[in-house]
Amino acid sequence: MSELTLRPAGDITPMPGIDMTTRLASVTFPNPVFTASGCAAAGQELDQFFDVAELGGIVTKSIMMAPRSGRATPRMAETPSGMLNSIGLQGPGIDAFLDKDLSWLSHRGARAVVSIAGGTVDDYAKLTAKLRGRPGLAMIEVNISCPNVEDRGQVFACDPHASAAVIQAVKRAAPTGVPVFAKLSPDVTDIVSIAQACVGAGADGLSLINTLLGMVIDTDTLRPALAGVTGGLSGPAIRPVAVRCVWQVRQALPDVPILGMGGIRTGLDALEFVLAGANAVSVGTTVFGDPRAPVRVLDELARALADRGFERFEDAIGLAHKPPVIHVPEGPDPVGDEPTPNEHRPVSFEGEA
Ligand SMILES: Cc1cc2nc3c(=O)[nH]c(=O)nc-3n(C[C@H](O)[C@H](O)[C@H](O)COP(=O)(O)O)c2cc1C
Repeated sequence: MSELTLRPAGDITPMPGIDMTTRLASVTFPNPVFTASGCAAAGQELDQFFDVAELGGIVTKSIMMAPRSGRATPRMAETPSGMLNSIGLQGPGIDAFLDKDLSWLSHRGARAVVSIAGGTVDDYAKLTAKLRGRPGLAMIEVNISCPNVEDRGQVFACDPHASAAVIQAVKRAAPTGVPVFAKLSPDVTDIVSIAQACVGAGADGLSLINTLLGMVIDTDTLRPALAGVTGGLSGPAIRPVAVRCVWQVRQALPDVPILGMGGIRTGLDALEFVLAGANAVSVGTTVFGDPRAPVRVLDELARALADRGFERFEDAIGLAHKPPVIHVPEGPDPVGDEPTPNEHRPVSFEGEA
C-alpha cells in the first residue's frame, strides 16, 4: 500500500457536510461507490463521462494469465429487468493489463481494485504475485466463479474447500497491506458457508454477488439465444437476491467488510445494500445504458443519507439489522392494530413459502 496515493474525492463530492468515507479492511476510501467488474473494462471508457478518480474505486474486468478472446457470439441477451451475458472473460492477459490498464489507472490517481480469475489455484497465485509492487493497487477482488479445470470444471465458488484453497493461495502471494476480497456466487444453497470458508482462509472481505446462471431460448430460431447456451443474469432482476445475500452474510460475519452489488441503478438501491450490511457498493449493468451512473448513484446516495439525518455514511451500514426505532405519536392512543405512520414493526427476513 505504500505506493498508493489516495486522492481526495475532489470537485464532485456531493452533499458537503456528509462524511462519505468508508473503510474496507485496512484501506479507507473517500466514498463507497465503485464500478463492478466486467462492466467498465479498466475505467478508460468511463473517463470521457466523469473523472474516474472521483469514485471510491474502479473494479477492473477479471484478468487471467493469458490473453483470451472469450466465448462465441451472440453472448448477450436481454431479459425482463436485466441481461444475460456469456462474455467468457475476454481480456488481454495479465502482462498487457499491468503495462496498459493498471498503469493508466494509477496515473489518473484512481484507486484500482484488480479482479483476477483463473482455472487452477496456481493461476490465482501467479496472478497475485504479478501484482506485487504495482502502484495504484488498492485491493484485489478474487473472482472465484470460474470453472476449476482440475476438478471436472466445477465452479470454485460453489464449493467451500475449493474457494478456501484459492483464497489461501492468493493471501500467501498478496502484497502486504492490500486487502483480498473473495467474490461469491449466489448459485449456492448456503452462501454463508462459502463466505465463512473464504474468511477462514484469510479473505479480508467479501464481494457479493456475481451473476446468477440463467438461460434464454429464442422462440424464432427455436434455439438458445446465447452461443454459450447459459449465461450470467445481472441487473435489477437480481437485486432482491443480492440484498438477501448481503443480509445473511452480514448477520453471520458482522465484522467482515462487504462490497455489495446486483442491480443497483439509483442511490436508494445502493442505500438498501448499505442498510443490509454493505460497506461499499459496485454499480454494474446500469453503466451500459447510463455511463454516468456511478457518480449519479454516489450523489443520490449522499442526498438520501442527508434526507434521513445521517452525518456519516458509515453510520448507515447494517442499520436494518438493528431493532427499529418506534416513534410514538403524541395524543390519544390509536385504536386497533394498524401501525401508526411513524411506527415500524420488526419483520422476519425469512421468506414465507
Ligand atoms: C457484461 C458483464 C461482464 C461481467 N464480467 C465480470 C467479470 O469479469 N468478473 C466478475 O467478477 N464479475 C463480472 N460480472 C458481474 C458483475 O461484476 C456483477 O457482479 C453483476 O453483474 C451484478 O451486478 P449488476 O447487476 O449491477 O451488473 C460481469 C457482469 C456483466 C453484466
